[in-house]
Amino acid sequence: MRARRSLIDLGDLSGGELNYVLDRAADFEDTEPAPLLRGVATVNLFFEQSTRTFTSFNFAELRLGAHVVNLAPGDMSLATKGETIEDTVLTLAAMGVRLLVVRHPEAGYVQRVAQAFDGHVVNAGDGAHAHPTQALLDLFTLREEFGALDGRTIAIVGDILHSRVAHSTIAGLHRLGANVVLVGPEFFLPSEYAQPGVTIARELDAVLGEADAIVLLRIQRERFAAMPMSDAEYTARYQLNGARLARLHERAIVMHPGPYNRGMELDDSVLEFAGWRYAKQVRNGVYVRMSILDFLVNGEASPNAR
Ligand code: NCD
Repeated sequence: MRARRSLIDLGDLSGGELNYVLDRAADFEDTEPAPLLRGVATVNLFFEQSTRTFTSFNFAELRLGAHVVNLAPGDMSLATKGETIEDTVLTLAAMGVRLLVVRHPEAGYVQRVAQAFDGHVVNAGDGAHAHPTQALLDLFTLREEFGALDGRTIAIVGDILHSRVAHSTIAGLHRLGANVVLVGPEFFLPSEYAQPGVTIARELDAVLGEADAIVLLRIQRERFAAMPMSDAEYTARYQLNGARLARLHERAIVMHPGPYNRGMELDDSVLEFAGWRYAKQVRNGVYVRMSILDFLVNGEASPNAR
């Protein structure tokens, strides 16, 4: 029997597998898929709010023919009746559940679920640790735009420290050979983030002319106590606005994992910018999640693989 595969962070995929999953996502974009997850009992366990990721996993699962149940924490016995997460997943497994998609505010929690569950587990975001499917959809969107990413300069701007999206996307970009420039104040971007291929800039103005893509991040206020900088100073230094858009090079694009906060990391002119790729990212999220679910459950020998 095939070993059960899970995706806790991007490092769970080899280089070949990463490319396979991205290539295959393009097939899902182009052609109506066979029911590759027909009847696979799937539970989405979201302990934290989500609009995009939750809906996108649901559509991906449904399009592939899975049987899907959504559980919110308040619905479960572990909320008030003393049942552990380990016993909860044993219970789900006993019902034939084979695939769990889990989001939780605590880093490491999804790994804990994977250890207790004899099936496939996908991390839909665990604390500030990782969000591998967001990274996959960011990489997929960038590859659609630019082809190979080696030599491309991708700037990620804002609250890197508290962003699981940034952590996974940096790792993915690094693996695909992009030059990564991280932009933010020390509080959101400690100097230790610098490594070969990943540089740090303290001012957004310093990177506008060189970036092929700018990835904006929300300030994750729910993950820290107080901002050491006023909102006015933050926006003066880091907000992408009309004046800064005008300084980007002609084919540069702007991305954001969502949810975005108008008036903070971006102003309304970004939403009208020709290179704004947010909607494309959201749409690609469904194809990328179809691809990773198919890969985990069926492997590379998936029935209609190329
Ligand atoms: C983010 C998340 O929840 O990690 N959004 C997403 O999943 N697309 C980012 C955020 O909350 O700012």
